[in-house]
This record gives sequence, C-alpha cells and structure tokens, in this order.
Amino acid sequence: MITKRIVSGIQPSGILHIGNYLGAIKNWKNYQETNTNNCYFFIADYHSITTKFLTDYTELEKDPKYSHDNLDDNVFKTAACLLACGLDPSKCNLFVQSQIPSHTNLMWLLSCITPLSWLNKMVQFKEKRNSSIDLSSSGLYTYPILMAADILIYKAEIVPVGEDQIQHIELCRDIAYRVNKIAKCDLLPIPDYFVDKQSARIMSLQNGKLKMSKSDKSSYACVSLIDNEEKIKKNIMKAKTDSKGNIYYDVKERPEVSNLINIYANLENISIDDTVKKFENASTQEFKQELAKSVGDVVGNISQRANDLIDKESDYVKDVIREGCKNACEESRKNYEEIKRYLKFFV
Ligand code: TRP
Repeated sequence: MITKRIVSGIQPSGILHIGNYLGAIKNWKNYQETNTNNCYFFIADYHSITTKFLTDYTELEKDPKYSHDNLDDNVFKTAACLLACGLDPSKCNLFVQSQIPSHTNLMWLLSCITPLSWLNKMVQFKEKRNSSIDLSSSGLYTYPILMAADILIYKAEIVPVGEDQIQHIELCRDIAYRVNKIAKCDLLPIPDYFVDKQSARIMSLQNGKLKMSKSDKSSYACVSLIDNEEKIKKNIMKAKTDSKGNIYYDVKERPEVSNLINIYANLENISIDDTVKKFENASTQEFKQELAKSVGDVVGNISQRANDLIDKESDYVKDVIREGCKNACEESRKNYEEIKRYLKFFV
C-alpha cells in the first residue's frame, strides 16, 4: 500500500494539555494507523527557545515555571505524554528536533532562498514579537524557515497543524517551489497541510477568546495530561461560563460554553449538534458534571500512564526517543545530501 509521508512537531513549552491532545495528538494517532511507518513526529525544542532565552534574560519577564531552565525536563515529560496518549514507536518515529543536525543544516540553505519580504508577511511574528526590540530574537523572525526545513528534510506530503500555523505551511510550500526551480526538477514534494476544523481550537477554560495554552498564568485555564482526576474535575467545574444557564453553541456570543461543547463533542466523537441536543434540557452545572466525567475517562487514563512513564519508566522513554532519533537522522541525512547535490554543492 502506498502511504503518504506525514511530518509534524509540537513545542515542549510546558506540560501538554487536553487542547494539544484533541487538536494535534489525536490526529497524529490516526495518521500512525493509516500511514504506518511513514510518520515523523517530533518535539520542536528549537522552536520553543525563540522567545524564552531573551525574555528570561531580563529577570523582569522571567516566569520560573515556564523558563528556559526547565527545557530538558519539559522535553522528557512531553515525550512521556505523547507515549501515554498512544503514539506507538513501532508505527511512527518519535524524536527531538535538536538531536537531528540536518534540520538546522537545511535551514541555512533555505534561509538563503527565502526573500525577506516573505518573512515580513508572517502574522505570528508580528503578534509574538516583544514590544522591546532587544527582546525579540532573530530566531523568532526566522522560525518559519526552520519549520520549513523540519518539513522538507523528510519530503513530507501532509503536515497536520493547528490553524495558526497555516501561513507557515504556505511559506514552506513557496520555499519548496523555489528549491525545485533551482534544482530544475521535482526534488521536493509540495506539502499539504491538514487542519482538523472542529478540534483545531480548544480555548482556555477561563477565557473563551484565548487559545488554551501551556503557559497560561491561571492554573484553572487548562486540563493538563498529567492532572489527576480530582484536579480535572475541579478545573472543569470551575470553568468560566455565562449567566444564560442553558447549553447552546454560539462561538461569538457564548465563547466559553461553546468551547466546553466543543471539548465534549471531540472527546465523545459526536457532532456539535448532537451534543447540544443531548444537553438541551440540562443546566450548566449538569452539563459540566457530564463533561468532567468524559474528560476524566480520557485524560485520567492518559495521566496515569504518563505519570508512570515519568516516575518509573524513564529509561524506556529515553530508549524510544533514541531509536526515533536514529531513524530520523538516517532519513534526513540522506535527503540533505541529495538536496545539496542538486543545489550544486561539492559533495
Ligand atoms: N511551529 C509549530 C507550532 O508551534 C511546531 C512545529 C515546528 C511544527 N516545526 C514544525 C509543526 C513542522 C509542523 C511541522 O505548533
């Protein structure tokens, strides 16, 4: 069976949460079944330092919980959570970006092919850059080129991402066209993105207009994948809603309740309409209780496994990553040599 090459990355900027699970990891799991042995999933630690080094540097902005000091621990815990969610190392390659030299090697070549004007259009850079120019790293600016290298180094055909990354994939496609033009052949496939529309945006439990984030200051804003059942229940019951009291889906007018409906629908694999129908006579409180049960069932299992991996099976986690890195190194090195040849380097 011919399958497509799948590549995706996730940043280790804290403990993974239910938004990461529903928005990304669940899709990765589907891909490892349909595209077995053709998936490259990695922890994008290089991307996670684009803002941290410099903001940590000014003690003023340093947030100990999310500071760069915890990078190695966060990478390890992210790996454990990915395994606990069901990523299977016998079906996909799981590895750490910074351990594969070809990513950054290719990035240099691509950065010499990418015009500044293309980077200047990137919305995420404009949003994320610090108001102080000395706290905006040049890495944050060239981040999309590293992302393109991550993708093209494996000749990816499909890249599952969140909605906020679409522009970066479009840039990656433009870069791939350029490379092919210079190479005078179809050296690199032009990758497509896959965005799971319904689950792409799981929002904070405390503010329906903000994406759920690992680095949210409020500990009630998300359900992390290593929370115990008690904490899960607490956060769901404390989730912000509105005074209307019924369960109705309207993202604009009722963002918080709509977010909870979205989470329930995704966990139970049913449609938004069916979820609303199911709870049409329920109070917010009753709905939250059902939601807490549903989140507890799914996340409870993941979190138990993740905590076991972290506390008792750290050698296993490290072995999995080592093996994934070995495969990724081989594949990416082969492709890098080929690209260099086509771009007329002396090899
Ligand atoms: N930038 C992505 C994010 O923040 C993570 C990422 C890095 C990625 N490299 C990638 C995703 C390559 C897909 C493909 O979500």
